[in-house]
Amino acid sequence: MILKQRRSFYFAISALVFAILSIVGISASIAQADSNEKPKVTIVATGGTIAGEASSRASFTSYRAGSIPMDEMLEYIQPEISEHVDVDVIQFGNSGSGGYTLEEFHELTLVVEDALEEADGVVVTSGTDTMEEFAYWLDLTVQSQKPVVMTGAMRPWSSEGEMVFGADGPANLYNSILLAGSQSTFCFGTVLMLNDEIHAAKDVTKADTYRMDTFESPNNGPLGFIDGTNISTDRAPARVQSCGDLDEWMTPFDMTEVEADDLARTEIVYTYQNAGGEAITAFAEAGVDGIVTAGTGAGGISSAQREAQNDAIENHDVVFATSSRTGAGNVYGGRDQIIAANDLIPQKARILLTLGLTYAPDNTEQVAEWFHTIGNPQFNASNVDNDDEYPTWQNNAIYVAGDRVWYDDVLYEAKWWTVNEIPSESGEWDVWKVVESEVTAS
Ligand code: SIN
Repeated sequence: MILKQRRSFYFAISALVFAILSIVGISASIAQADSNEKPKVTIVATGGTIAGEASSRASFTSYRAGSIPMDEMLEYIQPEISEHVDVDVIQFGNSGSGGYTLEEFHELTLVVEDALEEADGVVVTSGTDTMEEFAYWLDLTVQSQKPVVMTGAMRPWSSEGEMVFGADGPANLYNSILLAGSQSTFCFGTVLMLNDEIHAAKDVTKADTYRMDTFESPNNGPLGFIDGTNISTDRAPARVQSCGDLDEWMTPFDMTEVEADDLARTEIVYTYQNAGGEAITAFAEAGVDGIVTAGTGAGGISSAQREAQNDAIENHDVVFATSSRTGAGNVYGGRDQIIAANDLIPQKARILLTLGLTYAPDNTEQVAEWFHTIGNPQFNASNVDNDDEYPTWQNNAIYVAGDRVWYDDVLYEAKWWTVNEIPSESGEWDVWKVVESEVTAS
């Protein structure tokens, strides 16, 4: 059952709201803001080590995750947090991260969306083990541009009412609320904040069993950092480009349109030396809709797995996503019912495959397209409509490499020095035609 309790706090506020489309390279300081109204942040608590009850104050590895209610934890970071943000609590659940089902993820999305109707941002707490999957699920499904921040802890919270030595939970909770309230990640989708680092949901992964700096984004690094009330975001997920166009920014994965039991069933199969094909066959016979292969290198699987894969496609209509067990880098290509997961690690590819096959169960081409667009968004400044700024071609003018000019309603780019010569098409690019001519200017 969901327990919702509103808390209000007393002091004047500070929080910066950014102009999102110029977000890269900006840094914010909550302390510098001079708004009179405090932002509202709702915490949706699901449990994990952050809510862990340890057997002693010095017990970092022996504890019961998901034991302490969020209300109690919030009390601990008072009154400091209330100087900046008004905070609500929704106790969604209180257990380890690994036990949550996709049906509960479906409900979590709806709860987060509901909270964002009122709140300026949401913090979701969870165990760190599958936090990256919570984060990517929310990133792909929440239909709001407001900040959603995932956090948790690597050390349990307390033991018999006393804080565990060096517990990271209080700082992570405090920082996440500040981050969500600051609006610094508006239009970023879901981000993960732990150990003072901000990571994109798509990129982040847990990389160590016990270290407090366990979260890494192997392909791209963190988005930014929190130092006290200073928040810096040095880069942004590519999705931020479509912030001004709500329809383009939203994914099609609107949870209000499907029931929890409509979700496609997908699994992951790991590859290793001489791997057998039985796991693929068993999943296919069990009726799964999709399988992600965690292949070697750029997605390779064993001969036995390949045989089982062909059979699963032909006889059971299973859709595959091919990813890598290396933890970083791209898998390209794909064919028919085998979709390249690009730079999504297997557990992220599985989330997208689940959603893709739920919303386009009979259209593998569409699912593959979503892997390329939603799963692998790219910054692309070449689409910016700034063509008007270029001059039209002038005979006798000298153009140097890189200059762009209009000629006969076609925009050309000079490849070499050009002078007094009408552009001729010789390039292969779609948009920019290439002018090739000898260097004639002196
Ligand atoms: C869990 O994921 O629930 C346990 C581990 C953690 O929270 O760090």
